[in-house]
Amino acid sequence: MSLTAHTTIASFRGALDAARCVGQRVGLVPTMGYLHDGHASLFRRAAEECDVAAATVFVNPLQFGPSEDYESYPRDLDTDSATARTAGIAHLFTPPVEEMYPDGAPMPTAVSVAGVSESMEGATRAGHFDGVATVVAKLFAIAGACRAYFGEKDYQQLAVIRRMTRDLSLPVEVIACPTVREADGLAMSSRNSYLSVEERTAASVLFRALETGRNAIEHEAVRDPDKVRRLIAGVIDAEPLADLDYAEVVDPQTFRPPTSIAGEVRLLVAARLGPARLIDNMGATA
Ligand code: PAJ
Repeated sequence: MSLTAHTTIASFRGALDAARCVGQRVGLVPTMGYLHDGHASLFRRAAEECDVAAATVFVNPLQFGPSEDYESYPRDLDTDSATARTAGIAHLFTPPVEEMYPDGAPMPTAVSVAGVSESMEGATRAGHFDGVATVVAKLFAIAGACRAYFGEKDYQQLAVIRRMTRDLSLPVEVIACPTVREADGLAMSSRNSYLSVEERTAASVLFRALETGRNAIEHEAVRDPDKVRRLIAGVIDAEPLADLDYAEVVDPQTFRPPTSIAGEVRLLVAARLGPARLIDNMGATA
């Protein structure tokens, strides 16, 4: 399978328009690069389910706060191209910042999704989800009608993108893909590269904390969301290298904490380990 690289909007849009013109179904996987097996699982799924699979690698300045890691975010375009090709991507869009934001960022136009953007990541990282929604809306406008693949790893992001796609009637079917994990349960993430050897070992605490929460719900019949939150937080607090940001139990539809756990809930955590801020989540059913 050959891979065509695009750095201009016109070229990437033209290639996907041409594919649709001959009746091909387009799959799209937006990423910020420094690709790992989690990204590759999305690429493979897009390649399996669509006639033409496309991916984007763009470290989007709009979604980073002023004190965040935009400048230091890891980048490796050569390795990313090889990963994309091997996983079945036919078109790779890697625009320079000036191509996406010719008049600079932020732009006068932005996409903001109320409600689901406001808690957790949205509360900790002001403006983050507006940056995500704006760039994804732009990428959807550039790519055109397609199936777009996103990871459950970024569960709140997925909800923001689903809501935006529905509210703006974008011609995109959003498809959720399961989180790919390392052997010890740590969710794969480009930011794991920031961890020292000791921090990397400690980082599996997020997964273990979520499992503790899920076990409490599924095997110990705990129905009080606060109790589950405290159990999850307790596991993370017991790891000296981890600094808990939040532990939440929410209804997967409303993203609000239920008064009592019934049916499906989503457990979500964020914690700092050294220079890295890591997030993870897991479903549980009462
Ligand atoms: P990035 O963090 O590069 O992630 C790109 C896609 O890969 C997202 O849909 C994310 O959920 C998915 N992903 C990351 N780690 C995963 C894992 N371990 N298992 C499964 N899927 C995983 O998310 C972004 O980029 C950006 O915010 C973006 C949507 C591209 C907008 O800039």
